[in-house]
Amino acid sequence: MLSYRHSFHAGNFADVLKHLVLIKILEYLGKKDKPFCCIDTHAGPGVYSLNEDFALKNKEFENGIAKLWLRDDLPESVAAYVKLIKTFNGKDQLSCYPGSPLIIKQFLRSQDRLFLYELHSTEIHILVNTVGKDRRIKVFHADGLKNTIGLLPPIEHRGLVFIDPSYEIKSDYPLVIETLIHMHRRFATGTYVLWYPVVERSRNRQLERALKKSGIKNVQLFELGIKTDTHELGMTASGMIVVNPPWTLAAEMQQTLPWLAIALGIENSGRYRIETLAGE
Ligand SMILES: C[S@@+](CC[C@H](N)C(=O)[O-])C[C@H]1O[C@@H](n2cnc3c(N)ncnc32)[C@H](O)[C@@H]1O
Repeated sequence: MLSYRHSFHAGNFADVLKHLVLIKILEYLGKKDKPFCCIDTHAGPGVYSLNEDFALKNKEFENGIAKLWLRDDLPESVAAYVKLIKTFNGKDQLSCYPGSPLIIKQFLRSQDRLFLYELHSTEIHILVNTVGKDRRIKVFHADGLKNTIGLLPPIEHRGLVFIDPSYEIKSDYPLVIETLIHMHRRFATGTYVLWYPVVERSRNRQLERALKKSGIKNVQLFELGIKTDTHELGMTASGMIVVNPPWTLAAEMQQTLPWLAIALGIENSGRYRIETLAGE
């Protein structure tokens, strides 16, 4: 049974990086008139209230979106991200944080499609209500990793698979890589985005090694850390691995990540990585 609820973490530093990169990729896909297909394998509930118990328990958003909310010196990509989050909030009050389904929906044109998968029996109901009726969007109460394979390649032959697992069990790490390799075999030109937490660095090293060994080309990694790695419990950093990224993304992240590491780093311990895991 799944116990993870993203509402505890909504708007934290990991969501800032995750959603900022997602927005950059969606902006890029929207530059051509040709339709694109987006698959969100771990959709979550779609929206989070920052005024309710879940979010208020650890107030993780305070070291994420809330720190950026009122700043007037944001780098361009951070400003675009904050502007989008503001469209979900009335006036200047930060009370609501959109999840990936609502963020992606903002970028869909009439010709684009979105597939959303969510396994949790409560989150799926919230998701269905949040997304509402929309002929471009299909929502499934099903396993996003298993079911996405059957959708690939999409008829559009253009698109994004966004993989945002909760890594509740250790086997999730090898499972996501195996699945990503399988997906890529079916749709090698698609863009894939895999989010990862850094809780125990050795797991991340294994994940990166497995990806390098896979032979998949054109893979970049963007990581934002707010503390130095530790053996204690808790996430110190998180990152996005992007297969077939927009060619503009690495340069944009060079402008963004050093700034975010300073803005969100705790006691001057912020840091970042921008790496090419496999060349083109
Ligand atoms: C990190 S949260 C997703 C957050 C969301 N992508 C966002 O940006 O707002 C992970 C979600 O995946 C769901 N989940 C876990 N395993 C899944 C699977 N195999 N297929 C679909 N959903 C899954 C969990 O219930 C949880 O809601």
